[in-house]
Parts: sequence; structure tokens; C-alpha cells
Amino acid sequence: MDFVKNAEDINKMRHGGKILAETLSELKKMLVPGRDSLDLEKEFIKMCSKNKVAPTCKGYSPHGMPEFPTGLCLSINDQSVHCFPKKGVILKDGDVVTVDTVIKYKGLNVDAAFSTVVGKNTNSLKSLLVNTAEKALYETISEVGPGVRIGRISNKMQKIVESQGLNVLKDYAGHGIGSEMHEYPEIPCYGGVNDGPKLVEGMTICIEALVCTGDDIVVNESEWETRMADGGYFAQAEHTILVTKDGYEILTRKDK
Ligand code: MF3
Ligand code: CO
Repeated sequence: MDFVKNAEDINKMRHGGKILAETLSELKKMLVPGRDSLDLEKEFIKMCSKNKVAPTCKGYSPHGMPEFPTGLCLSINDQSVHCFPKKGVILKDGDVVTVDTVIKYKGLNVDAAFSTVVGKNTNSLKSLLVNTAEKALYETISEVGPGVRIGRISNKMQKIVESQGLNVLKDYAGHGIGSEMHEYPEIPCYGGVNDGPKLVEGMTICIEALVCTGDDIVVNESEWETRMADGGYFAQAEHTILVTKDGYEILTRKDK
């Protein structure tokens, strides 16, 4: 029952979640044409030290993988999960950009992501993509509560996305989170309503809407970086969520 967090851990994740929400909203403002993608990384690292949190992704190296080079995951257009910002990669009008990151506060991680279109966007498919990723995230979050099977989330996510003529990724998934960035259970973006285990009060989970405009096949560009095989666009929306007695609490959301 390690995946059930106690009140102290929950409070730490709540605090970390607010910091992450604040950080991502600052980074979003930097997504303008002409911006070097590495500027976002520099700003992120500064904000982490100011807020006394650790950038969990930086140096992350599970099962023999090379160390992840940056604190941010940043993907542009057909780049998919686990890409990084790079010096000289300049954002331009119409780029579909995803920023995904994990921070650790007092030993507990929180993870969130968003996608947006940079500058002038005249492409309705790009708008549909980023809006559907966000809609799929919030509509599946509304299902969360104790006793709810993960398959209900996965199945609803797939239906919402496919009803728009878009696809979900099958090779990557949401996950539990806590002292490790990836914990039990796995939360796929597709499947049947009876798939997977049931949620329990006190679990902290990351729901990730991983959406693409074309075929769901993802190819590796390096050990970490991935790209949509058919050159379609990719978008992602993710929050860290606490399963409460009555439903859920979004931990990676700013105070209103
Ligand atoms: N939200 C991403 C995930 O759960 C964060 C990855 S960080 C990385 O996979 F270091 F693994 F890239
Ligand atoms: Co995640």
C-alpha cells in the first residue's frame, strides 16, 4: 500500500504542485516566436532554485538509460515524448510546443505538462489537437474517485480523442507518482472500462493525455527523444491528481 500517501506527504505534494503550476504558467509566457528553446530551460532551473525544489528529470537515468540532459521535456511539432530543449532551436509562429516536467519538493514529486501553439496560428488542426488534449485531460479527471477502475479513465480518454479524428499514443502512459516519478499504477490512454486496478483514496496519479494528429506510431531519434513516425503533430496535457474520499483534487493547479 506504498502508493497510498499519508497526510504529510499529501501536503508536500500540494505545495510542490502549486509551485509547478506557477512555474509552468511562467514558462508558457516565454513561448513566443524567436525564443531559443534553451532559454526556457535556463529560466526553469532558476525558478527551481528560487523555490527550493529539484528538477527531477535532469540526470534521470532509469534502467541503464543515459542521463536525461535537462530539467524540461520540450517537444516541437512532430517531436513526441522525452525530447529536450536545445540551444539554437528557435521557436516560430505556428509551432506546436509541449512542455512537460517533474519537480521534487521535500522528497515528493509532482508532474505536469501542457501544449500550445506559438504566436500566430492559422491551422485549425493544431488548435483541435491542443484543445482536445486539454479537454481529454479534464474530462477524464472528472471520473477520478475511490473505487473507480483505471479503465474508465483510459477508455474515456480514447473515446474523446478518437471522436475528433485524432489518436492516442499507446506506447506511453500516465502513472502513479510520489517519492519516485513513476509509480504504480499505470494509466494508459486507451483500453476497455474493465481494464486495470481500481483507484484508492490517498493515491496520487498522473493522468497524461498523449495525443497525435496522425498514426500513433512513435520512433526513437535517440535513446530518449522520440518523434511521430508519420510526421504528424503531437500534444500532451498532464496533471498530478490526488484521489480523495469524495473524488479528486488537482495538485498541479494554481490557486485562483
Ligand atoms: N511526464 C513525463 C513522464 O511521465 C516526464 C518524463 S521526465 C523524463 O514520462 F526525465 F523521463 F524525461
Ligand atoms: Co508523467
